[in-house]
Amino acid sequence: SNNSIPQDKTLDNTLALLQEGFQFIPNRRKQLDSDIFQTRLFGQKVICMSGKEAAELFYDNERFQRKGAAPKRIQKTLFGENAIQGMDGEEHKHRKRMFLSLMTPERLDHMVDLTLKQWKDKVTEWEKAIDVVLFDETEEMMCKAACEWAGVPIREKEVNQRSKDLGAMIDAFGGVGQRYRQGKHARKRTEKWIKDIIKEIRSGKLNPPENTASYIIAWHRERNGKKLSSQMAAIELINVIRPIAAIGRYITFGALALHEYPETYKKLQEDNEEYSKMFVQEVRRFYPFGPFTGARVRKHFTWKQCHFKKGMLVLLDIYGTNHHPDLWEDPDDFKPERFKNWEGSPFRFIPQGGGDHYIGHRCAGEWLTVMVMKASMKFITTEMEYEVPPQDLNYSMVRMPSIPKSRFVIRKVRPK
Ligand code: HEM
Repeated sequence: SNNSIPQDKTLDNTLALLQEGFQFIPNRRKQLDSDIFQTRLFGQKVICMSGKEAAELFYDNERFQRKGAAPKRIQKTLFGENAIQGMDGEEHKHRKRMFLSLMTPERLDHMVDLTLKQWKDKVTEWEKAIDVVLFDETEEMMCKAACEWAGVPIREKEVNQRSKDLGAMIDAFGGVGQRYRQGKHARKRTEKWIKDIIKEIRSGKLNPPENTASYIIAWHRERNGKKLSSQMAAIELINVIRPIAAIGRYITFGALALHEYPETYKKLQEDNEEYSKMFVQEVRRFYPFGPFTGARVRKHFTWKQCHFKKGMLVLLDIYGTNHHPDLWEDPDDFKPERFKNWEGSPFRFIPQGGGDHYIGHRCAGEWLTVMVMKASMKFITTEMEYEVPPQDLNYSMVRMPSIPKSRFVIRKVRPK
């Protein structure tokens, strides 16, 4: 038995997870006064861990594997089935290099240019509108920019549906019933769309530039020399465009931060000493997005007198680590300045996973996310004017993922 790990003895906590959301692991960490505890979720024993040392352990490939970690329901909505998130060892490293090869400085700069072009077009459009729902709009503009960047053709009249589908896959990750079904259908439609594009590239009907994601993924060779199946290529290309669209959620939280902490607005506008970078880091730390990530114990081991049995599911608390009182001063205050002269720990600040991008499963799109957010936040404060009418800006800490109830409405938008 696992005597040395504090236990939450509730028969099964799956319901509690849905009722407590982002606070499920933090609540028990506090109650049990332990960064590691055992519980039952999804009908199995699960170890939950939080904090810097837990993150260091979690990203040890000798001790953990991703195979079998993500539930099928997450693969059928958010990830895609049998994709990079569930791979291990040399196969994973090889696939990961494919993703990271998309992220050269030139390509990242190009992504920023495409994003800014979207902002300029949108501001012109918004001038004529009464209310602008920023979350819907940013998801859509990031969808367009993502497709253009990735070499995926998208017609103006299909943008709305495609962007809604990418949004629905993201929205499904903590959802049951209707939200889950919508995510599943959205994935089916999107996979069909992108699979056809992969086939067109392979047949020479479509010729995207060689440095784009669609080209690189369509022609990628596995370690055995074979191309990916058109289905798998589609899934991995979606693993590029979907999370770029997801940046719209962070941009919306960034706009919310400007509104909730008005002292940050002027500082961001002036942007001295990398303030915009610090602001973006704080948005990624502060607001809830990824609640946790999971892996399975690869082989039996003992850590701090806790026994990890082969095959057990282990969850690393992302949100809770970013708010851990031992790691952050006043963790529940929004203070971009905390990132001044920051040492850049790969295990303490883990909004998009921790560890090393090449060796482990840390997010392939982290640099892109930071650059796009920085450019967007600077645009919002220096290139446009807007008002924020009264609305319900509360965001749930239970619903995963979360967004302000009103989806952040702005008004009287003008270019500056
Ligand atoms: C993995 C979060 C944006 C591509 C991950 C992980 C998280 C994450 C938590 C898993 C880390 C782990 O399990 O260890 C986010 C958030 C984003 C974002 C909150 C903000 C919108 C992006 C972007 C891209 C991207 C823009 C691509 C352009 C990926 C890929 C993986 C991944 C391919 C799988 C990596 C692997 O398994 O090795 N992301 N991500 N993400 N992300 Fe992101």
